[in-house]
Amino acid sequence: MTISSADFRSKFPVLRDKLYLNSCSQGALSGEVEAAMLEYLRSWHRDGSPWDVWVQHYEAGRRCFAEFIGAQPEDVALVASASAGVNSLASALSFRPRHKIVLGEFDFPTMGHIWLAQRARGAEVLFAKAHNDSLPAEAYEHLIDEHTLIVPLSHMCFMNGFRSPVAALTKMAHDRGALVLLDDYQDCGTRPIDVKAMDVDIFVSGTLKYLLGPPGLAFMYVRKSVAESLTPTVTGWFGQRNPFAFDVKLFDPAPGARRFESGTPPIPTIYGAVAGAKLLQSFGLQNVANQVHSLAQALIQGASDLGIQVKTPTDSKGPLVVLRAKDAEGVVRLLAAKNVVCSSRHDGLRISFHAYNTLDDVNLVLSLLQQNLSQLVTAATLSSASRSSQ
Ligand SMILES: Cc1ncc(COP(=O)(O)O)c(C=O)c1O
Repeated sequence: MTISSADFRSKFPVLRDKLYLNSCSQGALSGEVEAAMLEYLRSWHRDGSPWDVWVQHYEAGRRCFAEFIGAQPEDVALVASASAGVNSLASALSFRPRHKIVLGEFDFPTMGHIWLAQRARGAEVLFAKAHNDSLPAEAYEHLIDEHTLIVPLSHMCFMNGFRSPVAALTKMAHDRGALVLLDDYQDCGTRPIDVKAMDVDIFVSGTLKYLLGPPGLAFMYVRKSVAESLTPTVTGWFGQRNPFAFDVKLFDPAPGARRFESGTPPIPTIYGAVAGAKLLQSFGLQNVANQVHSLAQALIQGASDLGIQVKTPTDSKGPLVVLRAKDAEGVVRLLAAKNVVCSSRHDGLRISFHAYNTLDDVNLVLSLLQQNLSQLVTAATLSSASRSSQ
């Protein structure tokens, strides 16, 4: 049964005291997630070491996130972070005969770090160059070629809310024989996802943002034919065919994506993360998408009416809207003093929406921005800067 918008919102106690606009950093805590994590603690108290039950929860977590993205459970690895999953994958790649990795300047820094580290193993890393707050497919056109091994892509940029043209880039990469890795951390949980329809080879996301879970868990889909052609060298016992064989002399990677796992799974996080995903499903992912879209559009329109420079494309479906500020961190502090939780990156004030936000939230933040207009970059700021430079 689908729950109503008001019911969904009522699940998050923090919303009683705060205007919460920071799901791009951390999703709000619901009673459901809290109860699930307490259930983990209770099971530990009650049963001492119920590893059989905990391993069942771990497998249920795999099924839950596989279903969430339209994949089969055996094609999904549960890992402690997106970085851990991608590192294991990177460790399995050979940079011969294809040696190029084409990232974009809007990727999350951890992706840069992971792939730059592969230079020691023969990789060449290239970055598609952004122009202002845009990184269109054309920026990749001259970089992806017959020497390209993989194109890691961030679906939504954490700095400015730019949405990558995933379909065009996936086609471009595949036509030239390269793999595509989609990092969906900044969007997953805000709309229905079908990794098969997207045709990406690898998909990674974590649970702590729009999936409304705690930190400590990420999941990575790897297309079966790709997974089974790769042998990770960053590994561990939970990446083996039978972790409970306890054979120190046998390296026997699991079939499918599980081979990219390593050590003991983060059981407490899995309890909470599954509850977060199920709560979202009870509201309906298309409903989440519709709500987030209308809020993002209302903020973009309202901010533009105030003359504020919007870094996010004006036709954005959300969830992240970023406004240019003179001192973005300072604006975050000003808003925090009014019980508004948001965040900043560089010159951008980040305001992110989830299905628990409302049009009243947008109107309230707009009125606070209007009161602090001198802290934001507006059309007036720009024209006075250009007058003084003449
Ligand atoms: C787009 C994106 N990718 C990756 C990460 C980090 O992933 P992890 O810390 O799980 O490695 C973040 C965190 O903010 C992110 O926004």
